[in-house]
Amino acid sequence: MKNLKINIGGVELKNPVMTASGTFGSGQEYGEYMDLNQLGAVVVKGVAMIPWKGNPAPRIAETYGGMLNSVGLQNPGVEVFIEKDIPFLRKYDTKIIVNLAGKTIEEYCQVAERLGTADVDLLELNISCPNVKEGGVAFGTDAKMVEKVTKEVKKRSKQPVIVKLSPNVTDIAEMARAAEAGGADGLSLINTLLGMAIDIHKRKPILSMGVGGFSGPAIKPVALRMVNQVAKAVSLPIIGMGGIATGEDAVEFIMAGATGVAVGTAHFYNPRASWDVLEGIKEYMNQYEIKDLAEIKGII
Ligand code: SIN
Repeated sequence: MKNLKINIGGVELKNPVMTASGTFGSGQEYGEYMDLNQLGAVVVKGVAMIPWKGNPAPRIAETYGGMLNSVGLQNPGVEVFIEKDIPFLRKYDTKIIVNLAGKTIEEYCQVAERLGTADVDLLELNISCPNVKEGGVAFGTDAKMVEKVTKEVKKRSKQPVIVKLSPNVTDIAEMARAAEAGGADGLSLINTLLGMAIDIHKRKPILSMGVGGFSGPAIKPVALRMVNQVAKAVSLPIIGMGGIATGEDAVEFIMAGATGVAVGTAHFYNPRASWDVLEGIKEYMNQYEIKDLAEIKGII
């Protein structure tokens, strides 16, 4: 009998596979491709206090080994999320993790507080989106701010709080320690790397905002290195992500120190990617007669 269960901040997930925020909506579009009951958790697109319309198009560009996005945290606001998305997701046997968006500390706190009475399992504090002028990565690249925003959100939240870290820093371990000092219950990393693509015929950047977040298989080595660094720096559970598309990728992240894994960009070319990753993990466990993922977690 294999044990795939993991625990993040006191919440038990039946397996380590999640969806990366922003790549899976709230799951509705994916229901026809895969059974959402298979997932350890659905991590939904960033949710703010009021609706945000996001950045102007073009906001997606394909690149070698990945893609750039500058969506700008478009979302319908927390009330619509509570009314429409939670009842949809609650039909499935999976945990709900809500990615929190805000322009100020107070806005993050307000969303966390509003969700305190909602039926969701965990919160993921998004201080790493590179596509917004206020909030997002502006908070996630300053260790003092990471600690402060984590502390304030923790005071006002009922659910455990995961802090999503940005790779656009010199020392990600410093940010991880700051989140831990602020009372985080877990960490997720990495969000996207700031990148650019240029249309040489139009002589301008492809994305309307000029730059955007780079994700996909090409960033996996960077993500693995950062997960390994953070796993050695803190004792919090880590959700590793960045270019995961197969079970083998996920096993690498677990060996690097991740407790759980999130599948992101792979969903755009394979809507069943998270299911494939889960099956791949099980195959690996069978091949090497691993009974519990704890046997290989952090062995690097
Ligand atoms: C976006 O909406 O711009 C992407 C989300 C993120 O990077 O956190």
